[in-house]
Amino acid sequence: MIPWKKLGIAKIPNDGGELQLSQRGEEFSIRLSGVRGELMNSRVFNSEQVLAELGCATIKNKPDAHVLVGGLGMGYTLAAALRSVTSTSRVTVAELIPEVVEWNKGPLGQCAENPLSDPRSIVHIGDVAKLFENKPNSYDAILLDVDNGPEGLTQADNNWLYSQQGLEAISNTLRPEGMLAIWSAGGDSMFAIRLKKARFKVDIKTVRARPGKGSHHTIFLAQKPWQSSDIR
Ligand SMILES: C[S@@+](CC[C@H](N)C(=O)[O-])C[C@H]1O[C@@H](n2cnc3c(N)ncnc32)[C@H](O)[C@@H]1O
Repeated sequence: MIPWKKLGIAKIPNDGGELQLSQRGEEFSIRLSGVRGELMNSRVFNSEQVLAELGCATIKNKPDAHVLVGGLGMGYTLAAALRSVTSTSRVTVAELIPEVVEWNKGPLGQCAENPLSDPRSIVHIGDVAKLFENKPNSYDAILLDVDNGPEGLTQADNNWLYSQQGLEAISNTLRPEGMLAIWSAGGDSMFAIRLKKARFKVDIKTVRARPGKGSHHTIFLAQKPWQSSDIR
């Protein structure tokens, strides 16, 4: 058996612990310090891709669309978003931890075929929440996979994103009929209620971790109405 080799360590802001990148042959793993376990493994990425495919389904033929991906990770959602939009579209990816971006420019890039080298990719290093401040009508789709889901795991600070106030801010940042797609390890009925309260039209999908097998993950699809007065 090939042993794991540690490639890098990165601090998570606000004393959130550490991320550790390791490689074993062609397999990569990003682990959280302590007992919190594996955040991502390069062999398991189906639901991360489906997040982008479902989130971008309504804009696949739209020229000049702008998509925001929250959380670069191993780049699978970013790569799938780039495949799901037109050649004149842009995909901004926000990543909190600078080392994750460096790892993707280096050894991790091969996992999702180097999506950061696509000229349509724009990198924002920092908290994705910053991009929801005073930027009305900016994005056609927002794809969030920054945590274990609305209940969080890596960053307590991310809870704001899933709060009523956070969802209202995200809605304001979306263009009319824009799509918010959120990855979650499991269902959350209270979160679905908050999405509806923020006037989103909500659809909830269950997607397997690997094609046809593995854990069941949840993707919340929340579409902004055409007019803010539309009640869904
Ligand atoms: C589970 S991984 C994302 C996996 C990604 N969907 C993929 O396809 O590989 C979560 C990523 O979100 C980043 N992250 C966590 N909180 C964030 C925030 N508030 N803003 C931006 N990135 C964040 C983490 O550093 C990590 O790289």
